[in-house]
Order: sequence, then structure tokens, then C-alpha cells
Amino acid sequence: MSEDRGRWGSRTGFILAATGSAVGLGNIWGFPTQVGQGGGAAFVLVYLVAVLFICAPILLGEIVVGRYSQLGPMGAVRRLAPTGPWWLIGILAVSAGTFILSFYSVIAGWTVQYLWLAVTGGLESGPEASGALFTELAGQSWRNIFATGLFLAVTAWCVNRGIKRGIEAAARIMMPVLFVLLMILAVRAVTLPGAGEGLAYYLRPDLSQLRDPGILGAAVGQAFFSLSLGMGALITYGSYLHRSHKIRSAAMAIVGIDTLIALLAGFIIFPAGFSIAGFDPATGGPGLIFAVLPQLFATLPGGLIFGAAFFLLLSVAAFTSTISLLEVPVSHAIDQWRWSRRKAAATVGLFCFVVSIPCALSFGGGPAALADLPVIGGSFFDLMVNVWNEWALPIGGLLISLFVGWRWGVAHAGKELRREGPGFPSPKLWGVLIRFVSPAALVFLILLRIAS
Ligand code: TRP
Repeated sequence: MSEDRGRWGSRTGFILAATGSAVGLGNIWGFPTQVGQGGGAAFVLVYLVAVLFICAPILLGEIVVGRYSQLGPMGAVRRLAPTGPWWLIGILAVSAGTFILSFYSVIAGWTVQYLWLAVTGGLESGPEASGALFTELAGQSWRNIFATGLFLAVTAWCVNRGIKRGIEAAARIMMPVLFVLLMILAVRAVTLPGAGEGLAYYLRPDLSQLRDPGILGAAVGQAFFSLSLGMGALITYGSYLHRSHKIRSAAMAIVGIDTLIALLAGFIIFPAGFSIAGFDPATGGPGLIFAVLPQLFATLPGGLIFGAAFFLLLSVAAFTSTISLLEVPVSHAIDQWRWSRRKAAATVGLFCFVVSIPCALSFGGGPAALADLPVIGGSFFDLMVNVWNEWALPIGGLLISLFVGWRWGVAHAGKELRREGPGFPSPKLWGVLIRFVSPAALVFLILLRIAS
């Protein structure tokens, strides 16, 4: 085993780092966007079902594979299943990590620029200007490339410091900061005038919405991204655990905290949104975070402080997630190609930066073709999101659940869980979920995507 592999300092360190991976832009921006587009509280219900019955079993499955094999996705499947097409899981993991990081870091770059604007008073321009401000900012090529590159450089620096001194140390500082910011903002948002309407929208389900099968598809997709599933991020993080560390309760904690933080983000976004005249909850996307909310920060007394807190929250959440995205291909290069951690972090980081450039130029600041690709009809950025989020992650997740449930097999995996003594979920319940429920739901999701 390579000297560079590394290990968590403690089980708590692992839980914090894995939670840091899970909690990101997906929770604070993606989740409220999906709730807004999926019709409000009904989506929240479906989401909770998807998390518990479809995603949590896969999350535990990834961690079992990592802890048992003490290797990242490619090493693990090669060792546990030398025959068959399972190496595809390894390929998907490395490429999804690299390419998701390339567009994710562009948005992370925006959050840092907004933080800067909030601190320097640049958000003060007034409500009408917020939409225009975003369009202008997203079109500033050099500034966005610079901010994206900076974010990637800090991520690579942290990953280069190693598992305990880099990834775990960052999570130990960032996660408490994130939680405090989240609480302050939630309290501020629910006490805004007009917050009641937003809360009703968020909490009172309109059950007629449930007739749309698309809701389940959207909920599974969102939960997958939010929990960092489908590309072996948790196989990788699990591989730095000691074989004696217990993982069932750790998996429950990661799922619980990630879901709690997504729900809390809804308590910020919806009351805040509905307190602005003419707010449409289905706005979603960049418009919601970067155009709608700054209106509020511009008009609220002391709003810039909350604006700064909000964009700091987003930057911090994004940072612990970009770390995990980079760590997957970096650990692959260390395990499989025997690279040093330094060489791996620098090379993969640089490669991601190169791919992130066309992503950053997809918003009007670059060649027109990037903003609207011929044939595909969408920007380069949209294309990347589509390929990697909408296709690669569910396919990866399906392969991982089949691999754990059927190829390596629940007999082996269950034995690995039983070693820990009694706990929840029982290996039997978990076995049924990962063999039947999760793969069936993912096949349904993939068919739904093919049909649309
Ligand atoms: N889960 C993170 C979020 O919600 C994003 C993320 C980090 C991710 N690592 C991942 C998504 C691995 C999929 C796979 O923003």
C-alpha cells in the first residue's frame, strides 16, 4: 500500500468529512430549487422517502465497500470482483469526480464573488438591479475564470495536505461555522414579514402533486447528488477508516445531518423569497440564489451582514464538497498509478481548471457557441450537468447497488456489518433494500430520463 494513502484521525473526523462532502450547493441551492419546481411540500415528502429507502442503503453500501477493501472505487471493484464489467464503476467514479468538480467550482467561484460584493457594499445597488447584476457578473469571463481557478487551487492545496491534516482538519473548522451561519439565517428568515406564506408553501403538501411520477425521479436525483452518491466518494472516504470503526451509526449520522441541513435551507429560502413582492417559488436555478435573494439583502436593514453570512455559508458548504470531488480522482492516481499525493492533486486540479474554463464561459462571456451549443440546444455548462449529474450518477449508483447486493453480495457485506455487533439497520433489512428497492428505483429513474 502506498505511503501516501493516509487515514482519518477518528471516526468523528470521518463523519464530519463525509458530512462536509454531502452538504454543499446541492443542499442550499439545489434542494430549495427542486422543492420550488416540484410544487412545494409534496416534493419534500417524496424526497424523505427517497433518502431513507433508496439512497441511505447505497450510502451504507459504499462505506462498507471502502472500509472492507481499504481502497478507492477502482481498487475495490478490481479486488472484490476481478471478472465482469465492474471496473466501469471505477472509470465512472474518476471521470464523474473530475467533471462535476469542473462545473461545480464555477458556481463556487460565483459564491465567493458575491461574498466579496456583500462585504464591500457592492450588493447595495437596490432591488431592480439584482437580476442585472447577476447577468453582468456571470458574463465577466476573466473574473469568473480567476475565481474558479482560485477555488480549485485552495481545494487542491487542502487535498494535498492529506486525509487527516487536510480534509479532516478543514471539515472540523468548516462544519461548525456552517451550522452556526445556517441557524442565524434561518432565525432571521422566519421572522421576516411575509414569512408565513413561505412556510405554508414549504410545509403544507398539496397531495394531488404526487400523481406526477416525475416527482419521484427528481427527488431521487436530488437525493443522490446531495448525499454524494453514485461515484464512489464514500467508498473513497470509507477506505480511510480503520476496520474497527463502526459505520452503521456513522452512515445514519451523515444521512441525518445532510437531510436536516437541506430542510433548514428551505426554512431560509422560502420565507425570505416570499417576503419579496412578486416572488415565484419556481424561479430556481441561479436566479433564485444570485438574483432574488440579493434583492432582499439590498433592502433589509442590516441586510448586507446577512448577505455576507449567506454567501459565506454557500462558499464554506461548497468547499468541503469540492474537496471530496477532487479526492476521488486524486486517490485513484495514488492507488492505481502510484503517484505522489502532491503530483496527483496538482495534475488533477489543473485538468479540472482547464475543463472549467468553457463552463465559466457558458453564460454569455465567451464564444456564442458555448452559451448555446449547436445541435444540443443548451450551454456547455448545461451539457456537463446533464451528462454527469443526470446520467453518470444514477448509472453509477445502479452499478454500485448491483455490485454490493449481487456481485460481491449481501452475504459478504452483511458479514462485514455483523462484525460490528447489533445495530440499525439490520443486515437483513439493508440487504433487501440494496438488492431490490434501490436498483428498482434507479432503473425507474433511468427509464424516466430516457423517456423524457
Ligand atoms: N453533495 C454535494 C452537494 O450537495 C456535491 C458533491 C460532493 C457530490 N461530492 C460529490 C455529488 C460526489 C455527487 C458525488 O453539493
